[in-house]
Amino acid sequence: PKDDPTLLFSGAGMNQFKDQFLGRNVTYKRATTSQKCLRTGDLDNVGKTSGHHTFFEMLGNFSFGDYFKKEAIAWAWEFFTTVLKIPQELLWVSVYKDDDEAYDIWKDVIKIDPKRIVRLGEKDNFWPSEAPSKGPNGPCGPCSEIFYDYGVNLGCGKPGCSPACDCKRFVEVWNLVFTQFDRQSDGSLKPLPNKNIDTGMGLERIASVIQGVKTNFETDIFKPITSEIRKAAKTAGPDKVLTSKINAIADHIRAVTFCISDGVMPSNEERGYVVRKLIRRAMSHCQ
Ligand code: SER
Repeated sequence: PKDDPTLLFSGAGMNQFKDQFLGRNVTYKRATTSQKCLRTGDLDNVGKTSGHHTFFEMLGNFSFGDYFKKEAIAWAWEFFTTVLKIPQELLWVSVYKDDDEAYDIWKDVIKIDPKRIVRLGEKDNFWPSEAPSKGPNGPCGPCSEIFYDYGVNLGCGKPGCSPACDCKRFVEVWNLVFTQFDRQSDGSLKPLPNKNIDTGMGLERIASVIQGVKTNFETDIFKPITSEIRKAAKTAGPDKVLTSKINAIADHIRAVTFCISDGVMPSNEERGYVVRKLIRRAMSHCQ
């Protein structure tokens, strides 16, 4: 990221808009982005799960003191149900436990069945996660997430299974953040001069929903990469461990390719060290 010494990489679609959320340099009030992101927090899960990556593209729309909750929710719903044509009954939503306003918009304006709306705490429905109790300081707010339901067969089968559950049935595809607070060092949540919107939808996850495949690695984003790796490995086996290694290698090749093309070369320090580590991890999966 440019001009942000606190970050090695852009890990979220909103990083470049911190000033605008704080009411500084607001020369435009709305933005729509496709942001290249790199996160290393999920590194150990990459390849093992269907949807964790180091590198991914985050699609988002943003409001800097312009539209707010009602519009952001309505437009997200319209995009999913009428543009992408995802059947409504396969979409579930979560809201922050105290956010009655978002709950009421989903229930009364969008008219989603309240059985498919869940209220969750600050770990799941505040962004950054757990910001009220743990920080970081800066712009933050409650959020509402939209989940795709892959069906009971993929779930744990327990009664009451919902997006609150850790099983594989529900995948979060879009996070709508209502960025309305500036967390202070004493932990207080100071209202921002303007209420803002920050949304984030992973391109790879929405591609897997639209393409009707069960993992991001089976989308047309990854298939050409994984099939080349299979050819190089001289194997076509469906073995689970092999597939997880191939997926991890594909993820890391992609991350490293984007980093290098953005000017981050492998090295011994900072960003370059992350790139080197990803190359090493990919190599270790080759054994
Ligand atoms: N900042 C939020 C996220 O990264 C929404 O874009 O999930």
